[in-house]
Amino acid sequence: MKLILLGAPGAGKGTQAAMLEEKYKIPQISTGDILRASVKEKTSMGVKAKEFMDKGSLVPDEVVVGIIEERIVKPDCENGFILDGFPRNTAQADALSAMLDKNGENIDLVASILVDDQEVIARLAGRRTCKECKKGYHVTFKPPKEAGKCDACGNELFQRTDDKEETVKDRLEVYKEQTQPLIDYYSQKNKLKSIVGEGGIDKVFEKICGLIDEAMP
Ligand code: AP5
Ligand code: MG
Ligand code: ZN
Repeated sequence: MKLILLGAPGAGKGTQAAMLEEKYKIPQISTGDILRASVKEKTSMGVKAKEFMDKGSLVPDEVVVGIIEERIVKPDCENGFILDGFPRNTAQADALSAMLDKNGENIDLVASILVDDQEVIARLAGRRTCKECKKGYHVTFKPPKEAGKCDACGNELFQRTDDKEETVKDRLEVYKEQTQPLIDYYSQKNKLKSIVGEGGIDKVFEKICGLIDEAMP
């Protein structure tokens, strides 16, 4: 199953991708996570990417396309993958389909997770992430057992620097201008299924699993 999770910042792509990875045994590939790891390591890619990420704008296409190109040929992608945060515009989508085309492959399903702006703002304001294992939480919607500490590894939780309210507004604008057109793009290719991404994490998970089971090749 080659799946794309499409959705605004805070729609729940990362949360759902982690759960889907466990259930379907195919890897979550998050360009945001890969970029944040290189920012942390201060690699040359990370130093460049940080400028864009801090403003809430997209990192240049050649950088993220390169990341995906290298990642999807790894052995763990043999049975498919879950793309979380890629593609983000039509140029990236074209690059992805060219990559897959070379091997006669195609995306099986694009699940678009719809969440309204007010919900996005509330989710990102309360999002917390584990410093070590990167597990995601929310202070109200998915609180850890002990405040500020990861249930899985006990390490400290942090707030993403791009989750400041001003940056969230910019990220939402970028989503609407550059990423939302992919809804039409993939619906013309008959790949798109939309679900409402509200009503609890487990409820949303059930809906996405339903779409996958229907589309399973
Ligand atoms: P990226 O890391 O991809 O961020 P994003 O798209 O803005 O999405 P988020 O990670 O903020 O949200 P999410 O949908 O994963 O939500 P989550 O599951 O965490 O990108 C960051 C930056 O990197 C970009 O701005 C850009 O600069 C760069 N970048 C990345 N990819 C790129 C690309 N392809 N091209 C160019 N640049 C790129 O959920 C959010 C919160 O809500 C959590 O606290 C969670 O617990 C909670 N929650 C989730 N689901 C529910 C629910 N159903 N009910 C209640 N709470 C919920
Ligand atoms: Mg995410
Ligand atoms: Zn942890």
